[in-house]
Amino acid sequence: MNTLTLAHYYTTPDVQEMADYVGDSLELALIAQREKADRIVFAGVKFMAETTKIINPDTQVILPDEAATCSLVTQTDIDALKQWREQYSDHVHVSYINSSAEHKTISDWIVTSRNVDDIIADLYAQGEKVIFSPDRNMGAYLNYQYGYEMPVWNAVCEVHDKFKDEQINYMMKQAGSEGNVFLLAHPESPLPVLKLADFVGSTKQMLDWVKEFKGEAHNIFIATEEGLLHNMRQLRSDLNLQQAPIYSGCQCNACPYMKRNTVELVKQAQQGKGFEINYLDEDTIAKAVKPIERMLSFSEKQMNKSAA
Ligand code: 13P
Ligand code: SF4
Repeated sequence: MNTLTLAHYYTTPDVQEMADYVGDSLELALIAQREKADRIVFAGVKFMAETTKIINPDTQVILPDEAATCSLVTQTDIDALKQWREQYSDHVHVSYINSSAEHKTISDWIVTSRNVDDIIADLYAQGEKVIFSPDRNMGAYLNYQYGYEMPVWNAVCEVHDKFKDEQINYMMKQAGSEGNVFLLAHPESPLPVLKLADFVGSTKQMLDWVKEFKGEAHNIFIATEEGLLHNMRQLRSDLNLQQAPIYSGCQCNACPYMKRNTVELVKQAQQGKGFEINYLDEDTIAKAVKPIERMLSFSEKQMNKSAA
């Protein structure tokens, strides 16, 4: 049996080493669409494995641990979401990929943190009105950054939502003077943190920023899940890359869901044992695949354009 293993940057380094590909949500979805396999093991979270199954309904898709969910999914009540969507029936519903399969069936577009700015800009350029779900912080950022007035759903990433601007600001001031200290942040962080950031982007975009960094500054704070730091340090051991601090709750930047992917469970999943995504009915897949494919083809076209 031909098995493909995909891993997100937030999994631990030893799990990433077991994967054929490591990437952000967009990259992994594009790979899942492009590569053919009998079995795909997704070392990530449930919405990512579900997206893979929706794109490849005939492939066996295994998530190593069923409990690997995401707070953006669990905080979204689908019946309430349906009512909210009906209130704005003349709007285009753009949903972040961090959403359940059912959520995707009532969405017009799926976006990831890498392509959300461009897809929404394109919709506004066509004169559309837009609603955005489920990430409140990402929606607030888009409204602030581009002057939109999108109604936004109210759920958060429980990891990124803990970042606080005062604490990060204090830490940056201690680390050096302006022009010498940088902050990179994932758009799931609260707006005051994003306002402080020198760069806001997906995990892969932050990784690329670090890779290309040419300045003298050595103090670069990263406001995202801690797994990405490993990939950044592998690329640039010359830079002082530091996790932006979290002072509340577990005081750690680890996503408890991503960390469910242990080496042992990923090994078992590669043998066909684990949580198989086999519960999505045909109707759900048929409806959910449309907004996902719309997004994948938008991003593919963009990538081809910039490669030409
Ligand atoms: P990326 O698509 O930027 O990798 O984000 C996924 C995610 O879950 C961030 O918390
Ligand atoms: Fe979900 Fe946040 Fe974990 Fe990403 S880091 S999977 S958004 S809980």
